[in-house]
Amino acid sequence: MCGRGQLRWGWGHGAPTLTLLFSLLVSAAPSGVLGEGTRQVSLQVIPSCPGCPQSLLHIRAVGANSTLHYVWGSLGPPAVVLVATDTPLSVLSVNWSRLLSPEPDGGLTVLPKDSIQFSSALVFTRLLEFDSTNISEATADPPGKPYPPYSLANFSWNNINDSLDPVTLSAMFQGHPVDDPTGAFANGSLAFKVQAFSRPGRPTQAPRLLHTADTCQLEVALVGASARGNHSLFGLEVAMLGHGPDCPSVQEQRSIDDEYAPAVFQLDHVLWGSDPSGFVQWRPVAFSQKQGGRESALPCQASPPHPTQAYSVPPSPIVQAFFGSQNNFCAFNLTFGAPTGPGYWDQHYLSWSMLLGVGHPPVDALSPLVLGIMAVALGAPGLMLLGGGLVLLLSHRQHSEYQSIN
Ligand SMILES: *[C@@H]1O[C@H](CO)[C@@H](O)[C@H](O)[C@H]1NC(C)=O
Ligand SMILES: *[C@@H]1O[C@H](CO)[C@@H](O)[C@H](O)[C@H]1NC(C)=O
Ligand SMILES: *[C@@H]1O[C@H](CO)[C@@H](O)[C@H](O)[C@H]1NC(C)=O
Ligand SMILES: *[C@@H]1O[C@H](CO)[C@@H](O)[C@H](O)[C@H]1NC(C)=O
Ligand SMILES: *[C@@H]1O[C@H](CO)[C@@H](O)[C@H](O)[C@H]1NC(C)=O
Ligand SMILES: *[C@@H]1O[C@H](CO)[C@@H](O)[C@H](O)[C@H]1NC(C)=O
Repeated sequence: MCGRGQLRWGWGHGAPTLTLLFSLLVSAAPSGVLGEGTRQVSLQVIPSCPGCPQSLLHIRAVGANSTLHYVWGSLGPPAVVLVATDTPLSVLSVNWSRLLSPEPDGGLTVLPKDSIQFSSALVFTRLLEFDSTNISEATADPPGKPYPPYSLANFSWNNINDSLDPVTLSAMFQGHPVDDPTGAFANGSLAFKVQAFSRPGRPTQAPRLLHTADTCQLEVALVGASARGNHSLFGLEVAMLGHGPDCPSVQEQRSIDDEYAPAVFQLDHVLWGSDPSGFVQWRPVAFSQKQGGRESALPCQASPPHPTQAYSVPPSPIVQAFFGSQNNFCAFNLTFGAPTGPGYWDQHYLSWSMLLGVGHPPVDALSPLVLGIMAVALGAPGLMLLGGGLVLLLSHRQHSEYQSIN
């Protein structure tokens, strides 16, 4: 890529500026980014009985002094329970007979209980569809006339065991509505692809979210389903377990740098609360093609999270099993695409990614390419000043030598 060449050129000419910039950036970055780094990550499928399709995906990420547990499940709507403990020895315990009973409270525990520093949950409640035919503004809310939403609690999901990949630390829940009278999902599916990481990095696939070993990535992909209109926009309703009476807001972080996600200068996140906390982070972009690029980028809008009564969120047995039945939720809608431009209608494909984690959300430092450009831009005038100074110095010295000889 051209970025590499420019980068080297930048180093050659502007190294001091670059070092200064870099040290400024490093000292400004919150400590979460510089965290201890690696974790021993294992993925385990916990079936309700040998060979049963009903199962949980347990991601256990062990660090020097802590363990993170992510428990993903598709009993009821797709949901994840995240638990951070301050010991490398904490374990997940599942009581399936309780979890599958009408009162699942206590069916899911992390032991020892007093090691738990933070716990919360996300529930993906509904797939939304809007008819944007007569909408002209890209930011209209809602982005069109809503069709009846698909309740994700009424989907049937594949056996997670079939997609478990211990090498990439990933697994996928793929589902379609149990009841599909129009055959909209006859050739289609909604997939939740979960990936964990043992060290910090950035995937090669757009939107290339920076991850740490404390995070998990979720990619939601709608593929091949027939839309109900020619100009359908899709959305996802998400409920997060509330902490306290108010709902957190979606915070936007702007950057001058778009190297990793072309033309996207924003990173959004929702923090559950104060330290230690969890977060959800995403770039406000979705893609209408598998190889996500600038041509297939769709805007993604998030509505402000607002309190929702537990009864309006389809019950998630795993959330109830861990947290009991008295829960407050904050729900928000994500909508993908605009009435004009690329859309799901192009290739019957839509994907969107987010990061879920504990601690501080990863912060994008300026990319090497942008640093290189800045170093060149700042370095060239610096060189001219330096050069000018040398000339002055030399001429001054010649002048004084000439004087002393005299
Ligand atoms: C882990 O524990 C050790 C010893 O108790 C301590 O020195 C270190 O700072 C801790 N590391 C983290 C990341 O908390
Ligand atoms: C699991 O839950 C059932 C029903 O609540 C209870 O009878 C059983 O003892 C529990 N099993 C374990 C291993 O705790
Ligand atoms: C769009 O507008 C046209 C003309 O006003 C109207 O006939 C049509 O029903 C509208 N379609 C939708 C989906 O609202
Ligand atoms: C599903 O695919 C089959 C074969 O490609 C095709 O005949 C059928 O029309 C498709 N159904 C829908 C609802 O797209
Ligand atoms: C959708 O597009 C088809 C073909 O372009 C057209 O015949 C049909 O009337 C359109 N439907 C709506 C609801 O606009
Ligand atoms: C999401 O959008 C749907 C359809 O417009 C609406 O019924 C629902 O109340 C919205 N949910 C939230 C949490 O805003």
